[in-house]
Amino acid sequence: MRYLYLSTLLLAVLTVSVLGFRGTPSTRPPIELFPDMDHQAHLKPQAESAFFPDRRADRPIPAGTVSRDDLRDDDHLYLGKNADGTWARTFPAAVKLDAALLARGQDRFTIYCQPCHGALGDGNGITKQYGMTTTPTYFDEKRTKLTAGEIFNVISNGSQKTPEGRQNMLSYADKLTAPDRWAVVAYVRALQRANAGTVADVPADKRKELGL
Ligand code: HEC
Repeated sequence: MRYLYLSTLLLAVLTVSVLGFRGTPSTRPPIELFPDMDHQAHLKPQAESAFFPDRRADRPIPAGTVSRDDLRDDDHLYLGKNADGTWARTFPAAVKLDAALLARGQDRFTIYCQPCHGALGDGNGITKQYGMTTTPTYFDEKRTKLTAGEIFNVISNGSQKTPEGRQNMLSYADKLTAPDRWAVVAYVRALQRANAGTVADVPADKRKELGL
C-alpha cells in the first residue's frame, strides 16, 4: 500500500514538474499533444517577403473583387430606387409587409424619430418645445405624396440641404439597417393612414364603443 501512495506522489510531482502549474510563467513552449495546424508558415501584415517579386507580403486584391458583406446589388432594398433610377413606390421583395414589420417599425420609430416627429407623426416631438421648429408634419400635401423610396432615402441620407447649406435632419443609416429603415417607412405610412382615417374605417360593431 505504501508503494501505491509513494508512486502516486511521484507521478504527481513528475506531472507538475513537466507540465507546470497553471499560471506558472515559463519560457519553454507548452507541450502540445495534438498541435493540429496551430503552427504554419505565414507572413505578417505589411512585412517584406522574398517570395514575391515585388517583395510585399500583402497581396493586392484581384481586380473586380467585391466584399460579400458590402455587395449591395439590390437598388430597391438599399437605395429605394427602381431599376430605371426612379423612386420606388413599393416595398422591396426582401421585406415582408406584415404585423411583425410594423411592430419593428414602431419600435425603431419611437427610439429614433419620435423625439422630433412626435408619436403621431405631426411634427410635435419633444424637441419642438426646445426650439427645433423646423420638423414638419407627415400629413401635409408634400409629405403624403412622398414615395416609399423617398422616405427610405430621407432616413438613409437625411433631408435635402436648405439653400443656406444646412441639413435639418441627419442620416440614420448608421443606426438602422436597410430592412429596419423599410420597417420605419411602413410605420410612417401607417401613421399617415391613421391620420387620414374616418368613421368609415371603424368596424361597425366597434363604433358604439367610440360613442359614434
Ligand atoms: C433631430 C430631429 C429629427 C429626427 C430625430 C428625425 N427627423 Fe425627420 N425631419 C426632421 C426635420 C427638421 C425635417 C425637415 C427637413 C427639411 O425639410 O429641411 C425632417 C423631415 C423628414 C421627412 C420629410 C422629408 C421631406 O422630403 O420632406 C421625413 C419623411 C422624415 N423626416 C422621416 C424621419 C424618420 C423616419 C425619422 C427616424 C428614423 C426621422 N425623420 C428622424 C427632423 C428629424
